[in-house]
Amino acid sequence: MLAIDRGHYVRPGSSAYMDAPQTIGYSATISAPHMHAYALDLLEPYLRPGHRVLDVGCGSGYLAACMAEMVGPEGKVVALDHIPELVEMTRGNVERDQPGWTANGRVECVVGDGREGYPARAPYSAIHVGAAAATIPQPLVDQLASPGRMILPVARSYGGQALMQVDKDADGTVTTHSLMGVMYVPLTDKDAQLSGAV
Ligand SMILES: C[S@@+](CC[C@H](N)C(=O)[O-])C[C@H]1O[C@@H](n2cnc3c(N)ncnc32)[C@H](O)[C@@H]1O
Repeated sequence: MLAIDRGHYVRPGSSAYMDAPQTIGYSATISAPHMHAYALDLLEPYLRPGHRVLDVGCGSGYLAACMAEMVGPEGKVVALDHIPELVEMTRGNVERDQPGWTANGRVECVVGDGREGYPARAPYSAIHVGAAAATIPQPLVDQLASPGRMILPVARSYGGQALMQVDKDADGTVTTHSLMGVMYVPLTDKDAQLSGAV
């Protein structure tokens, strides 16, 4: 995280170095640094040099850039968001912060519905989801490598959200467990997000 300057991934006038989310427009935020650190720590065994990674709901691109730093020049991070302007923001931020990383494909910026993942580059050793799903999206589980790990917030049936860890072992067996209660924006439809009804 020290290698990737958060100041390049927030709007001018934001508190770039405060441990709090900051608004990036389009009803979205850059998550708090402690949540990024927590996610990177959990995914670290699957963010080794050469690994391929999917960042669903990339927002302004900070976490995608951190993961690209960890997987190195032989690795790849697919940074996906359903808001085209945020995907452009990610591209611009990463290119300003780390010249060449989007041009050479170390970070590939893609517009799409994160609930479907991005099968074109699957399987992924690590998947991070930055918005809360109603249930664990099966396409994302299918796109996880064996072995691989996904970290995602999921709505709980009794209210609130849980940060979930989904592991697929070398035999393809999938296990899930709940890590802690969290509060994320929903993994939703573009129109619902932009109308503010999120
Ligand atoms: C809280 S922001 C997190 C941004 C970034 N991952 C971070 O940690 O700073 C959630 C992001 O999820 C995106 N998002 C919400 N629903 C989505 C969907 N169905 N498909 C793709 N992206 C989605 C939003 O546009 C937003 O950029």
